[in-house]
Amino acid sequence: MAIIIKTKEQIEGIRKSCVLARNTLKHIAQFIEAGVTTEFIDKKAGEYISSHGGIPATLNYKGYKHGSCISVNDVVCHGIPNSKTILKDGDIVNVDIATILNGFFGDTCLMYEVGTVGERAKKLLRITRECLDVGIKECKPGNKFGNIGFAIAGVAKRHGYSVVYQFCGHGVGLKFHEDPEVNHIDERNAGPVMKPGMTFTIEPMINEGKARVKIDKHDKWTARTIDGKLSAQYEHTILITESGAEVLTDVDEEYQKT
Ligand code: MF3
Ligand code: CO
Ligand code: CO
Repeated sequence: MAIIIKTKEQIEGIRKSCVLARNTLKHIAQFIEAGVTTEFIDKKAGEYISSHGGIPATLNYKGYKHGSCISVNDVVCHGIPNSKTILKDGDIVNVDIATILNGFFGDTCLMYEVGTVGERAKKLLRITRECLDVGIKECKPGNKFGNIGFAIAGVAKRHGYSVVYQFCGHGVGLKFHEDPEVNHIDERNAGPVMKPGMTFTIEPMINEGKARVKIDKHDKWTARTIDGKLSAQYEHTILITESGAEVLTDVDEEYQKT
């Protein structure tokens, strides 16, 4: 399958969906505290998305039944919101939100800290965020997708962390998951060339311990580290422009348009 080059009109639609997804993450921050269930957070996210005219993209996606993924501590991704997972002081929590707005898709996630989080966990969050940022810096027309994963893996390894290779970033916009696969560990100059109008995610999952992930036998979704150590993830949706890139999910203007 080919990588879709989006039109101006499509990009405007994708941008709006990206803003809704990111604003949902901002909205739920107030509810994340010790004693709250992941089901409650999912409910708050779903209400926000629907009250702004959107639909969660994860709902009924390949049999997934929820409007968000909420992944706590050693859960790498695809944590299913539920009434038994109660947040406690010191937890690190990823909420991943993807939205459909007027048919267009946006996808973003970030980490939240519950109460007082330890230094080890704080460092993992900081470095994982840095991994996303060095990946974003590689985004410009003419560059190869492999350089994203090459840059990310370099930062992770320097800190003794491992990069999850069983999940990757992806084209996004007209569908939830489009070509290409965006690897978070890759070789220099591998993969397809970035071109203006491409929209895709970068969403590195970085582990304190071993890279390998196992999927829960019973629910078939929840992905955990095999050694029970912590994992973190940040995700943005990126647009390649004529001159560089724009982070479409960056509602706080944390990134420069290049
Ligand atoms: N939002 C995830 C991503 O970043 C995908 C979740 S798929 C689901 O690509 F089915 F688990 F929801
Ligand atoms: Co994604
Ligand atoms: Co996502």
